[in-house]
Amino acid sequence: MLTQDEWFKIVCKSYSTNSVFHNGFELPAFPSDEIQSNTTGQAGIKTLEEAFIFYHDCIENFKIFGSPIQKKDFLLDFGVGWGRIARFFLNELPLENIYGIDVMEDFVEICRKTFRNDNFQVTTPFPPTRMPSEKFKFIVGYSVFSHLSEHACASWMREFHRILVPRGIVALTTRGRPFFDYCESLKGKGHTGYMDALSKMFDDFSDARIRYDRGEFVHSNRNGVSGGGAMTSEFYGESFIPEKYARTAYSGLFCLEKFLFDSTRQTHPIMFFRKN
Ligand SMILES: C[S@@+](CC[C@H](N)C(=O)[O-])C[C@H]1O[C@@H](n2cnc3c(N)ncnc32)[C@H](O)[C@@H]1O
Repeated sequence: MLTQDEWFKIVCKSYSTNSVFHNGFELPAFPSDEIQSNTTGQAGIKTLEEAFIFYHDCIENFKIFGSPIQKKDFLLDFGVGWGRIARFFLNELPLENIYGIDVMEDFVEICRKTFRNDNFQVTTPFPPTRMPSEKFKFIVGYSVFSHLSEHACASWMREFHRILVPRGIVALTTRGRPFFDYCESLKGKGHTGYMDALSKMFDDFSDARIRYDRGEFVHSNRNGVSGGGAMTSEFYGESFIPEKYARTAYSGLFCLEKFLFDSTRQTHPIMFFRKN
């Protein structure tokens, strides 16, 4: 297996060059820069850098928790998008052990074409999935629990519990506390579209911070922050899950192994849960 740095360079090469092979397998191609930016805010190497930090944190922490990824394990990428995160796990796992689900049909189609495999499936916004019980050792979800409502997150955690093997691990990102300050700083700057909507998602950002610090799940689904298309305000917006909430809300099903947030290198905190 390649070192993480060697692997990152190869994935970057597959962005600029066609037909880059790894372990005899041609690495998945990329959708247009426009699609990349619309879904992740950036395109090309920049968006891969962000994905790589998450992937690297997963790999390292799975080892720390005594569960390093092994070739026989199955991994599900929840809210897979165009496969930005899923592709990195091809360094550890054979393609047939990597699955992805998403509510957006177009994204799933991109994954099926670029990964040349039908492990990628459309899901409804709320579970259940068609996945069999106790299939996955790992579930990862980048920038999905940063958007789902409290009810949607709770429903998905129950589904993850069903489809994970005993003591399986889930790694999910959420919005971090500094994101309140960032959104508030956008106020009155003449922004339009999503940036304007972010600046208006709470009437009172101080109150939102207080609720977060009390350990509450803080969510906004106001106009402009619900995703559009299949992502309606019924379940989608901007979500901030504090560590205290993550530790207690799902404790009947999961133990929170770690709430990892180093804002100097991560844009999103990662919550690592282990199935009870
Ligand atoms: C911000 S994008 C992140 C995509 C991908 N994880 C990445 O980091 O490149 C959020 C993704 O979650 C998907 N999504 C939103 N709601 C979902 C739900 N209820 N179930 C599954 N996927 C969902 C969206 O379609 C979108 O692809």
